[in-house]
Amino acid sequence: MTVSLVLRRASERIGASVGLDAIEAAIEARALLCAALDVDRVWLIVHAQDELEAPNLHEFEKMVERRLKGEPVAYIAGFREFYGAKFRVTRDVLIPRPETELLVDLALECMPEDGKVLDLGTGSGAIAVSIARLRKSAAICAIDKSPAALEIAKENGRDLPNIDYVESDWFEALPDEKYDLIVSNPPYIAEGDEHLKDLQFEPSLALTSGRDGLDAIRRIVQDAPSHLKAGGWLLFEHGYDQGGKCRKLLSKKFYEVATWRDLSGNDRVSGGRLTSA
Ligand SMILES: C[S@@+](CC[C@H](N)C(=O)[O-])C[C@H]1O[C@@H](n2cnc3c(N)ncnc32)[C@H](O)[C@@H]1O
Repeated sequence: MTVSLVLRRASERIGASVGLDAIEAAIEARALLCAALDVDRVWLIVHAQDELEAPNLHEFEKMVERRLKGEPVAYIAGFREFYGAKFRVTRDVLIPRPETELLVDLALECMPEDGKVLDLGTGSGAIAVSIARLRKSAAICAIDKSPAALEIAKENGRDLPNIDYVESDWFEALPDEKYDLIVSNPPYIAEGDEHLKDLQFEPSLALTSGRDGLDAIRRIVQDAPSHLKAGGWLLFEHGYDQGGKCRKLLSKKFYEVATWRDLSGNDRVSGGRLTSA
């Protein structure tokens, strides 16, 4: 079978089974074939009429079967693009989301060029690695409670000497340091939330946080002041309906408290600056 025919058949199967429109299904089929053959999209266009070799076809079929069972493309392909770079992902880490790019934009605006930055719950390292790449003279500390996630983060940041990785339950194992910026995309979904059924392949440690989803955020807002320099920023991601509650939590110790919206117009990041520790 030719590359073109294989792609068409896979798109149809994915579209019908996962419930995607034709364009979305074609994009997914292409992404999976690129991963199976270890080629880019241009290669697929140039070689559209080439016959696929049997082992490659077999590998691709296995990937399509996983997708038909609902597994996200990023886990099957083993990577996801975030902030213009490719991140390795496994089922030990949350798949980085485009909404989180807002948090990186804000972090880059708020931190000094050579600032000390703490990324709480680094997962794949998406936030820490993106900041470290663009701020070579900054020092980043990336923490996570999951040792498996930290291994993935280290792999994604392997070319960046300005990141330290620490296994920690939020601030617990941290050295006695003060940071210019604390950034976090913590778990913020309420236990039992109906959306969790669509996220069953992602680690629950990365998703849920107590009955209202705010346990991690409450802990971070409460403990951040003793790890920030005066005037230092705390910025964190949250759910579309949590902005008001997050600003209220922040207002006790922080000034310039604000919530920023993502590209879909939803409240997505809140933060403020520390008045005094
Ligand atoms: C929503 S994910 C964010 C991952 C990544 N920063 C991103 O934006 O794609 C939350 C991360 O927090 C970590 N986490 C959950 N509870 C934690 C805790 N008590 N201490 C440290 N990290 C924790 C999870 O392992 C997960 O990697």
